[in-house]
Amino acid sequence: VGVNGNKVGHLFENISSFVRQCIFSVLNVGPVPSHIAFIMDGNRRYSKKQNLIDGNGHRAGFSALINMLKYCYELGVKYITVYAFSIDNFKRRPEEVVSLMKLMQEKIDELTKEESIVNRLGIRIYFQGNLKLLSDHVRSAAERAMVKTSGNSKAILSICVAYTSTDEIVHAVQESCEEKWDEIRKNNDGGNLIRLEENVKDKDEHRIGVTNVDRHMYMSVCPDPDIIIRTSGAARLSNFLLWQSAHCLLYSPAALWPEIGLRHLIWVILDFQRNYLYLKEKKKQS
Ligand code: FPP
Ligand code: MG
Repeated sequence: VGVNGNKVGHLFENISSFVRQCIFSVLNVGPVPSHIAFIMDGNRRYSKKQNLIDGNGHRAGFSALINMLKYCYELGVKYITVYAFSIDNFKRRPEEVVSLMKLMQEKIDELTKEESIVNRLGIRIYFQGNLKLLSDHVRSAAERAMVKTSGNSKAILSICVAYTSTDEIVHAVQESCEEKWDEIRKNNDGGNLIRLEENVKDKDEHRIGVTNVDRHMYMSVCPDPDIIIRTSGAARLSNFLLWQSAHCLLYSPAALWPEIGLRHLIWVILDFQRNYLYLKEKKKQS
């Protein structure tokens, strides 16, 4: 029975993979987004709904993420970003934060293995956020994963942890100011500090602008997202990619994150294709 069950499982897997390929070839006749970002909301509600023990909703959420990563990759989406843990999430019950961090470390180690899905598909991982806020263990696991996948170039998975958009923007502005000051000091060839301040006052070339700030964003490794999907029906961004989402299509299906599936992806791609020319025009005007 076990062997037969396995054979049936394989057959089902092959058929669904074939059907997916057919659907994706049809979708590829139209424009395909280069970057999709996900707010993976609803894991605890899923856990309650399914009577799972605490924490297993997030585990199911990780499996959903792997499936979605595979679908996006097969469709030809080059950049995939997920909101895995916000700075505000540190305010949750300490037991929940500890258990989520444990799961995170376990899954990051799993992804780092030679035979993991990211290495098989050639996906490079970036962890984006204020990584100093993570425990040493989780931070080292994240750094190892970034180094171990740095040779992969088929697609990029950005995992936002200890992330909020406001923190990212403040960080980028601070870095831009420091860089500008270094530049000014270098060009001041030994002049004194008072003269230096008089020299820079009100001069346009000494002001930082959008391009400076853009360059220092954590997310500067990716183009702006074309689509943000937030599960569980809430249409809020919750401090995620605020700087990058000016011309982005938002989609908020009622499904909880672990319930997200191929049908949601197909639906949002069709919506993207319907709105493509309008969104392109808006981007050009900005
Ligand atoms: C939001 O659902 C989800 C999270 C706070 C964590 C999601 C993390 C994972 C799926 C694991 C990711 C791991 C790696 C290595 C990428 P919620 O807790 O807010 O659920 P609720 O909205 O039902 O309360
Ligand atoms: Mg939530």
